[in-house]
Amino acid sequence: MAYDIAIIPGDGIGPEVVDHSMPVVETAADAHGVSLEITRYDWSSERYLKKGSMMPEDGLDRLSEHDAIVLGAVGHPDVADHVTLHGLRLEITKGFKQHVCKRPSYLFEGVTSPLRGYAAGDIDFVVYRQNTEGEYTHVGGRPYEGFENEVAIQSALFTREGTETVVRAAFEAATEREGKLTNITKSNAQAYGMVFWDDIVAEVHEEYPDVQVERLLVDAASMDFVRRPEAFDVLVASNLFGDILTDLGAGISGSLGLAPSSNIDPTRTYPSMFEPVHGSAFDITGDGIANPLGTVLSWELLWEHLGESALAETLRHAVSAQLADSSSPRTPDIGGSSGTEAVTEDLRTRIG
Ligand code: NAI
Ligand code: MG
Repeated sequence: MAYDIAIIPGDGIGPEVVDHSMPVVETAADAHGVSLEITRYDWSSERYLKKGSMMPEDGLDRLSEHDAIVLGAVGHPDVADHVTLHGLRLEITKGFKQHVCKRPSYLFEGVTSPLRGYAAGDIDFVVYRQNTEGEYTHVGGRPYEGFENEVAIQSALFTREGTETVVRAAFEAATEREGKLTNITKSNAQAYGMVFWDDIVAEVHEEYPDVQVERLLVDAASMDFVRRPEAFDVLVASNLFGDILTDLGAGISGSLGLAPSSNIDPTRTYPSMFEPVHGSAFDITGDGIANPLGTVLSWELLWEHLGESALAETLRHAVSAQLADSSSPRTPDIGGSSGTEAVTEDLRTRIG
């Protein structure tokens, strides 16, 4: 099979982790007789600083021609974060109806959790995060800006389509895993959006009567990510709650640098997008020490989505074998002293 993939390396460590992962991805694809056509788009904050926008006006049209998209990260010290995020990543997730953000957390053998007493596989859950609306909808305003009576309004928007789509994807995943779903909510305080959210979970639950649903307020869930992460299997959460909880999920699984993510349009009308959970990490940009494994594992999710399960499994197996081998190179975020390239070169030889 041949696939046509768009790559947007973005800012900071984005290009470092994306580019260094390519030899690994290409070697694995070759081994499975999969041919890859890559188009690289240099849409980034640098572009914004030069041309005034993160991507060209026909950006979505161009991306829509591809089978899938890989994104590094966006964020630049000289550009406001809301400009970079809304100008690229959120344009794509919203424009392509990528309502579902699937983010697995897994504690690999050879990786130390900051939580005491957790061994490989003890942490193993998947968060389904609503990805196109909720608290991240661009609705609000700043009336009287700069005056004494200044006001800021930030609204959250929950639609039936956006909510139902992610909730259904989470129920589907629960039936394929342990038959258990945790609904993350805050309907005690947010009496419109989150009560609606709970109603949709209850409605969709009727289609999946065998799935056991636990309802957990997001504050209690945060504590339980630390106290009893082994109890979670599939979780469903709004955009903001899912965003926060998945960084926590990455933290308890050893490093943000290991966490993969996918932004999925389940109808497959549009291409889906795959990216590591982390951002552009200004603090280590250019040092050559960014962990590339979150990006490699995002490619695993990409191949799974495109139906190339054996290829996905090859990438996962290589990462898992590398982490389990205490003599293998590893980046400082997981206790090593090697650079990005040494890690991907070792991975490549494990495949080739
Ligand atoms: P960040 O995720 O970039 O970094 C948080 C911490 O984790 C830093 O100490 C960083 O060094 C470390 N880290 C992140 N990825 C790593 C990797 N692969 N290997 C080793 N260590 C890693 O989040 P931060 O610092 O809050 O944000 C930096 C910029 O990234 C901001 O402009 C923010 O808006 C943007 N951002 C973009 C995202 C995206 O493009 N999807 C997601 C999150 C933040
Ligand atoms: Mg985040």
